[in-house]
Amino acid sequence: MNRLDDLLSRLDMTRLPRHVAMIMDGNGRWAKQRGEQRSEGHAEGVVSVRKVTELSSDLGISYLTLYAFSTENWNRPKEEVDLLMHLIGITIERETPYLVSNNVKLRLVGDIDRIPEASRMRLLRCAEETSGCTGLTLCMCLSYSSRWELTEAAKKIALQCARGELTADQIDENTVASCLDMAGVPDPDLLIRTGGEQRISNFLLWQIAYSELYFTPTLWPDFGKEAYAEALLDYQRRERRYGMTSEQIAGDTDTNANTPKAQ
Ligand code: IPE
Ligand code: IPE
Ligand code: MG
Repeated sequence: MNRLDDLLSRLDMTRLPRHVAMIMDGNGRWAKQRGEQRSEGHAEGVVSVRKVTELSSDLGISYLTLYAFSTENWNRPKEEVDLLMHLIGITIERETPYLVSNNVKLRLVGDIDRIPEASRMRLLRCAEETSGCTGLTLCMCLSYSSRWELTEAAKKIALQCARGELTADQIDENTVASCLDMAGVPDPDLLIRTGGEQRISNFLLWQIAYSELYFTPTLWPDFGKEAYAEALLDYQRRERRYGMTSEQIAGDTDTNANTPKAQ
């Protein structure tokens, strides 16, 4: 049995996360370690995207959310931003037939209007062509930051109040959640960050309230199916308590890693 099969055989298929989110970090350092340009790291990172998408889909995970470009990443040198925008566009276009044949739906999350037109068109075309897919939903966060998303939600709620459709008293957690770009997607069960940093970098701040966090020093281009399976195994060793006691969790058959009560 190869190592991946061994890891997968140890997974409890009834307790897989419904939604995995990933902060794909470490492309630049991966390239630097090899004496190559940062662009080489980004190109190699695309291969990891394919691997984690494939494994998520094969395992029957419902949602995979990838942080591909943050609002703050616009502040990088123009050549790197241009390269990333181009790479994201052509990769999505090239991968569209794969996504369709594997029943994977692309959902774009973030301030997509800021993406240069050529890449934006490729992304929108892929979202359109995969819109009927019913397997894995691949949420691609581009020009995304959680503070941007929450600020936009605040604007939407203010508009509803100004129009008289909503009163301040009626605003609850569901109101906020329904105004987020990620509306309708269940909160991530597991958040993985590669590259060794132990921070969130403005990603899904609202949605990760009760997510399990997994940090690995593995650089994103080195993160493959084995590393992903290890993260899933680590997740399955945890007890999610949602503010309750261990005894309550043990006695409550409705509450397990898959069906969080406090959502
Ligand atoms: C992640 O890798 C990719 C993006 C943020 C777009 P980095 O480019 O941040 O790589 P490091 O962190 O510099 O190694
Ligand atoms: C987070 O990585 C953003 C993405 C992976 C898209 P960064 O490399 O931008 O994060 P910081 O700057 O190290 O916090
Ligand atoms: Mg980084």
